[in-house]
Amino acid sequence: MEDLAILDLAAAPTASPKVPAAIAPAAPEAVIRVRDLVVGFGDKLIMNGLDLDIYRGEVLGFVGGSGTGKSVLTRTILGLVQKRSGRIETFGEDANAMGDLQRRAIERRWGVMFQQGALFSGLTVKQNIQVPMREYLRLSQPLMDELAQLKIQMVGLKPDAADKFPSELSGGMIKRAALARALALDPELVFLDEPTSGLDPIGAADFDDLIATLQKTLGLTVFMVTHDLDSLYSICDRVAALAEGKVIAQGPIETLAKADHPWLKAYFQGKRARRMQPPQRPRLP
Ligand SMILES: Nc1ncnc2c1ncn2[C@@H]1O[C@H](COP(=O)(O)OP(=O)(O)O)[C@@H](O)[C@H]1O
Ligand SMILES: [Mg+2]
Repeated sequence: MEDLAILDLAAAPTASPKVPAAIAPAAPEAVIRVRDLVVGFGDKLIMNGLDLDIYRGEVLGFVGGSGTGKSVLTRTILGLVQKRSGRIETFGEDANAMGDLQRRAIERRWGVMFQQGALFSGLTVKQNIQVPMREYLRLSQPLMDELAQLKIQMVGLKPDAADKFPSELSGGMIKRAALARALALDPELVFLDEPTSGLDPIGAADFDDLIATLQKTLGLTVFMVTHDLDSLYSICDRVAALAEGKVIAQGPIETLAKADHPWLKAYFQGKRARRMQPPQRPRLP
């Protein structure tokens, strides 16, 4: 895979939303840095020497064929899947060297939207949003209710969604509720695993706009696994592609879309890919 190093087009975002451009550091800060990661189940290797950086303030799109390990990578970074070897730094700290207290402190700084939303079906939207609050914070019930209501409004749900169960929600509302739960602890970094899958194109476009708006107003860093080319073109600053257990290319989407790698060619220029063209939905100001 050495030859693929030429596709490492790491163009980091130039400025963090939290730091004025004039005093922004020259080198981007990696909030997540993965090096030489090896992950496997039984005799099946899923990651085989994977490197990845997620820079502060960027929206990083993560693509790869079905079953290549996008969700496994996300879960490994989160500490939910054991790695065999390699190094994962979260907010500059080596995950291997962390004690339980430090790990919990790190976990409070990120939010996760798992594939399929993964809301607890027996809990209302409000109760779902309060799950991370109960786990990591000590707050009174009235305060948690107020915070949950705030998150519900932030993701564009009506206040009365709070007391609904997931089975009473449309697909789009479930995604929004799952996003609200991911934002429960006011994270710096959010992991979104295929957030627009299963939505119709209009619902997906609305959800992209929501992610872009929240990312800007809250200064979030976003790691987004997606197959949605519209999302990649409209809201991602950079894209990384996974194949054969490695990140085979990363950089601006326009560059990946022109890259001379068989999987990238098939993905970006194949029959189901739309032709190279400017974003359908311009990024929000
Ligand atoms: N807990 C597990 N035990 C064994 N195999 C797993 C486990 N989780 C995922 N896998 C396998 O790892 C591979 C990558 O899965 P996944 O990360 O879910 O793919 P995707 O890129 O579609 O998100 C698949 O072959 C899947 O079957
Ligand atoms: Mg997946």
